[in-house]
Order: sequence, then structure tokens, then C-alpha cells
Amino acid sequence: MCGIFGYIGEKNAVDIIFKGLKKLEYRGYDSAGIAVVVDKELHIRRSVGKLCNLGLSLKENPISANIGIGHTRWATHGRPSKKNAHPHTDSAKTVVIVHNGIIENYVELKAELQKDGQEFKSETDTEVITHLIKKYYEDNLFCAVQKTLSRVRGSYALGIVSKDEPDKIICVRQDAPLIIGVGVGENFMASDIPALLSYTRDMIFLENGDIAEITAEKIVIKNIKGDIINREIKNIRWDTVQAEKNGYKHFMLKEIFEQPRTIEDTFRGRIYPDEGRVYIEEVKLEKEYIKNISNIYIVACGTSYHSGLVSKFLFESFAKIPTEVDIASEFRYRDVILDEKTLVVVVSQSGETADTLAALRLAKTKGCQILAVCNVVGSSISREAMHVIYTHCGPEIGVASTKAFTGQVTALYILALDLACKREILTIGELKKYLKELWEIPLKINKFLKNAKFVHDIAKVFASKRDFLYLGRHINYPVALEGALKIKEISYIHAEGYAAGEMKHGPIALIDKSMPIVAIVIKGRIYEKIISNIEEAKARGGIIIAVADQSDKEIGNKSDYVIYVPETDEFVSPLMTVIPLQLLAYYISVILSCDVDQPRNLAKSVTVE
Ligand code: F6R
Repeated sequence: MCGIFGYIGEKNAVDIIFKGLKKLEYRGYDSAGIAVVVDKELHIRRSVGKLCNLGLSLKENPISANIGIGHTRWATHGRPSKKNAHPHTDSAKTVVIVHNGIIENYVELKAELQKDGQEFKSETDTEVITHLIKKYYEDNLFCAVQKTLSRVRGSYALGIVSKDEPDKIICVRQDAPLIIGVGVGENFMASDIPALLSYTRDMIFLENGDIAEITAEKIVIKNIKGDIINREIKNIRWDTVQAEKNGYKHFMLKEIFEQPRTIEDTFRGRIYPDEGRVYIEEVKLEKEYIKNISNIYIVACGTSYHSGLVSKFLFESFAKIPTEVDIASEFRYRDVILDEKTLVVVVSQSGETADTLAALRLAKTKGCQILAVCNVVGSSISREAMHVIYTHCGPEIGVASTKAFTGQVTALYILALDLACKREILTIGELKKYLKELWEIPLKINKFLKNAKFVHDIAKVFASKRDFLYLGRHINYPVALEGALKIKEISYIHAEGYAAGEMKHGPIALIDKSMPIVAIVIKGRIYEKIISNIEEAKARGGIIIAVADQSDKEIGNKSDYVIYVPETDEFVSPLMTVIPLQLLAYYISVILSCDVDQPRNLAKSVTVE
């Protein structure tokens, strides 16, 4: 749950590493540090808090070098503090490392090292690696790393440098992402693609068990036995501007406004509404298999779980396949009944979420087909799944997911239609209609976003409230959950998402005249039902903020505020109704002066359990 970056070449490593860390700050931001080698001496700078603090310390105490590694941390073992900040070094200051992940057997290793007389300076699990490397280090850093890795268990992406071999960085990957950026006369390593894009588009995605030795001129990758491994260099087409704020105040706002494009990018080349055709090149499931699928399990965390919940309605209604949706951290510890007729769909923006990855691996052992819906090319989940539908959203930097959600719903909508076609369930006319509905969504979202200022006015009225209720039904019930999650995570306001019909079984007791209730009231099969639910809430004094179709003439009489959205078919409506909820959370967060893009206690990619 941290970001690591390394550089070796002729330029000033400190500047390059600092800029690289800036792009990785979304992965963790409770402390940061940089280590470089100058004249065969290690120099380390570390600071608590955000990267700007490290920037200040580097300004006060400048340094330049041609090799170095850096880290931006999200604490797992050991609270955020200077002594726990990476990079970590051994007592003799010979080797220095940055680490993303968790060393599971660090307690026993620490005890062993302490018995040998080794003193520990931090509370981290990482420090055991530095001491082990030093213990095994004779004159070859690579060999010392090999021996060390045979002792540790857990997940790790490591960058390792020695003052005695200042012409190389050793990079190691095991269950945590690590990419090598291939340059000319210089090379890089980083946890994620955006950090490298300013320097190179040629990248090597390390696989589990890889140990790479990078010098300015060469990259050699070996396995733990020392055998040379060949890894393909991939050319990444994301541009750097895609990863910048593009004039918006926050990444989250930029990402909300990007959604018409990211939805379109996700369906482009995959749907043909005029012909009534769906084509998902990456999904190679046999038609015979599809016809015999007994059930679908969707497994994910957080926002991705909510998009999975939306898709349950699509798989059941379009493809007529019984579908269950599970939280990955629950799924992985249950005795789930799966077999080769079960299609397991894992959904993950980052493709690195530890629980989702573990669920995927568990499902693999049961012989299921595994399909991933993922945003990050080359991520662990995308590599381990048998089929991958990429959401073409580009990097999502804001910690609160927005465009990832709509990208996932889009991909899952297409998948459900594809399965429905192959199972010969929908008529060509129905298929054309549903494809056309999706095709028109980007235009409709754009239209809404152009006039969305009034969401800000509503935010101003309610920003001081401490509790919110979000209500939805049917396919918009998961949107209510997502709306509540957004406001919780970026505004720190308590919010509950409920299936509106469930209100009278308890939560209705919460309602009084100070309780804002955001209700999604879209025309469709349960329209009348949810109208009754909001009337019940209103009768108890609740303040109703309805998200409703533009054409709804009645809703104004039944609610206190209405956010009108362009009308859509109910099956694509989550792509539309989630937008005002994202904006409402965003504006409230800004009004409350919260840290929108990097909310407290959160990190973008949860690579630990
Ligand atoms: C919420 C949010 C998280 C993620 C969750 C899963 O805004 O971003 O709830 O959705 O951590 O992450 P991925 O999709 O990367 O597996």
C-alpha cells in the first residue's frame, strides 16, 4: 500500500524520484523518503506527512546523485513517523531499501536477528529485510537478495541499493506491483504506470518471483534460482496529460467530468447498435460453455463491489443467469460452492486489491472460469484472470472512485448483453434497444454536467449535516450505496445507503426533520413503490432530495429538492444517476475543506489484506 520509485542514469536522481513519487502519492501519503548514493556513501532524507514535507526538507538540505530510490508510505506495521518512514537501512548503512507490501513472518525473523545482536530502529516489518540482506551480503548484492528472499514470506515490491555497488538497483516483485521503465542510458522502476510516463513509454511488468538488476544501460531479470527470464517490453499509450488534473481543481472533479469519454472508450469497438451486435475480443469463452453457465459469482471490494451489485440485475434480466455478488474479503473465507460451470467475475479498478486477488486465486482452485473487469493493464488481477475486459478509463488518481465505477458498469453491461446473445435469450430488437441506450449515455451525461451547478447549491444547503440517508430500489439500490460511500469517504459525514423498501423495517426510526434523504426516483418497474417510500420518509419530517427523470412532473410536489437527470432506460440508469451523487459528495467535501483527492485513512490501492 505504498508507492516506490527508483532511478539510475546521468540526470539528477533526486528530482526524478521526487516527481515520480508525486504521481504515486495516491498510494499512500503518511510519510515519504528518498535514498541516494554519492561517493560510495548512502544519503537518506525522510519526512512525516505528505510529500511536500519531504520537498521542503530536500530544499533545506539539497543533494544530487545519479542513483536512488524513493517511497511514499501508507502505514501497515508501525505508525506514521519519521523512524518508520522508508527507505530503511542496515546499521552499517550499507544497503537501503524501499518496500511496498507486508512481510508476514517478520516477527520470527526479527527475533532471530535480535538474537544475533541486531538492533532495530523502526517498528516496521520492512526493516528485517535490510538486516537480512546485510547478513548475507559478502560482495554480491544480487546473491544477498536471493538468500534473503528465500527466508521471507509475504507480499513485496522492493527497490534495493548498496553503497558498495552504486551502479545498480535491484528490483523484486512478489504479489505487489512493480514496473521497470526502460530508458536510453537510464532506467527506472515504479509501482505504477503514471509515475513513469514523463520519462518513457516502454515498460516491463515484473512477474511474481522476478528479481531485476537494473543499471543505466542494462536490465537483467532473473528468478530466485538465478536463471535469466525474458520479459516483453510493452509500449504504453496513455499520455501524461491524461494523468494530470487538466485544469480542474481536483483529480476527482476531473475524473467525474471525464466520464462521458471513459464510458465511450469502454464500449467503443465492442458494441454496434445498428447491427445489434456485441463483440468483446478479449473474452474467449466458448459458446457451449456460456450456454451451460450455472451461475455467476461477482467478487470485488468497495465501489467495485457496488458496480458488481448493479450488474447482478443485468446478468439476471438479460442473460437469465443466477448471480451472486460478494465482498472479496468475505468470499475468500467462506465455503463457497463453486464448480467449473460457475463463471467468477472479479471487478477491480487497480487490479491489485489483495482480497480480490485472493478470491480470484481461490476460485481458480475450484476450476471456475475467471473473468476480470479491470482498469490497469498489466496488473496482478488482469494477469491472473483467464479473460480480462479492460475498462478504458485511464489512470484514476482521486482516491474516491468515480470513472472506474461507470467504466465497470459499462463493461459489465456489455458482458451481460454478450452472454444474453450467446445464450439466445434477447431478440435482435431488444439487443439493439439496449445497445442504443448505452450508446446515448455519454451525450446525456455531458448534457447533465453542463448544467450541474445547482448540485453545488444543494451541497451548500446540506454541507453542515452530520448524517445522510441514501435510498434506491432495484438497479438503483447499489447506486444509493455508492452515493453514501462517496460522501462518507471524502466528507467524513455519516451516511447510510438503503434499499428504500427496507426503511420501515428499522431505519425509518432515524428520520426526523433534520435528516436529508437522497432518493433515486427513476421511472421504471418500481417507480410507484419508491414514491411511496419517500412519502413515508417525508411524513416523518425527512428532507427529500430526489434524483429524478427530467420528464417527471410529479416529483417536485413530493420532494424538497429535485436533481433532474436526462431520461434513460432503467437498466442503464445507474450510469446517469450516480453522477449527481458523485458531484454532491465532491462539492460538500470542498465546502468542508476536506482533502478531496486524498481523504484521511484511505489509499488508492489496497494491496494488503
Ligand atoms: C471507493 C474506492 C474503494 C475501491 C476499493 C476496490 O471510492 O475507491 O472502495 O473501490 O478499494 O479497489 P479496486 O477497484 O482497485 O479493487
